[in-house]
Amino acid sequence: MMKVTLVEEARVFIAECYKELNKTSALAQRLKQIECEIKTTHTYKHTEEELAHGVKMAWRNNNRCIGRLFWQQLQLIDARSATTAVEVEAALLHHIEAGTNGGAIRPTITVFEPGRVRIWNEQLIRYAGYIVDGKQIGDPLSNDITKLCQRLGWQSNKTDFDVLPLLFQVDEHSPLCMRDIPSPLVKEVTITHPDYPKLAELSLKWYAVPIIANMRLSIGGISYEACPFNGWYMGTEIASRNLVDTARYNKLPAIATALGIETRKNRELWQDRALLELNYAVLDSYKRAKVQMVDHHTAAKQFAQFESNEVEAHREVTGNWAWLIPPMSPASTHIFHQPYANTTKTPNFFYKKSLFEKENHCPFQQ
Ligand code: ARG
Repeated sequence: MMKVTLVEEARVFIAECYKELNKTSALAQRLKQIECEIKTTHTYKHTEEELAHGVKMAWRNNNRCIGRLFWQQLQLIDARSATTAVEVEAALLHHIEAGTNGGAIRPTITVFEPGRVRIWNEQLIRYAGYIVDGKQIGDPLSNDITKLCQRLGWQSNKTDFDVLPLLFQVDEHSPLCMRDIPSPLVKEVTITHPDYPKLAELSLKWYAVPIIANMRLSIGGISYEACPFNGWYMGTEIASRNLVDTARYNKLPAIATALGIETRKNRELWQDRALLELNYAVLDSYKRAKVQMVDHHTAAKQFAQFESNEVEAHREVTGNWAWLIPPMSPASTHIFHQPYANTTKTPNFFYKKSLFEKENHCPFQQ
């Protein structure tokens, strides 16, 4: 297959972007300018307007996301001028604050200059994980990054819910910077159930905003390696997965016991009953805490609206069925009952290789 050149990728994106923005009259001149820029510098720089629309298209094209109805609301924080550790830290903290917005979560993306900033956190806010005396504490997903933080001098109380520090480099070759997130910036929600006070005794909680920081944003041939972005949570992400997966917090047996559900017999459906009440508790707790969260039935309805909007706009809806169906009662949503074409359109977000894989040079290990 022939390699698509940067000019070609730029052309396709700029044409689509300008069409959607009703700016086709400016297209020819902008393309000429970009071609010139690529000839002399081997790259080109998006205008803020192109970037602001490109990130929205990337969200709209992301096959795994059920929340895409709101793609037009994504707010861009253009941090391409941030180059020092102080500036990058300030931008990351600003994102946490602006995205959280006191609980009225705003879908937000912060975009750094391509090829500069490297963020090591999987999400800006994430709980640490440790193995102490052979026992897992906290989030097992975070065991590697937690070890790295500890080697860099990070100290914690080793609870199940220690918020990891930010870990980043201002460019590939510079040392790792580690910065605690001031705790007033980290909104969290304690999980309680109105009908089962005993659930509170498990001291479960979760943070308000998932801010994905380990994906690469690709727009018009340009790769933005550091582009933390957030939406709001769907309840099942926490109540059917994070707190429950055996490879995560693995709390279902303890939850069932707190709810007074007998866990001996599979066919008495203790797992399903516990999951249902935990899902109810998480949604109720976020509501009481005034932190935005969507339930999976509403999210599916919103996705149906997205699908019909896209048809109206003459765009094909692509999707990854296995990701779009919620992990709770999937067959009660329309998504379960139809196929989706899992083809990849750009702009889009892509996974990066984990920075913890062996081939990756860890600046701390030398
Ligand atoms: N599933 C991930 C988590 O539980 C978050 C993924 C993004 N979710 C979202 N609602 N935007 O942390």
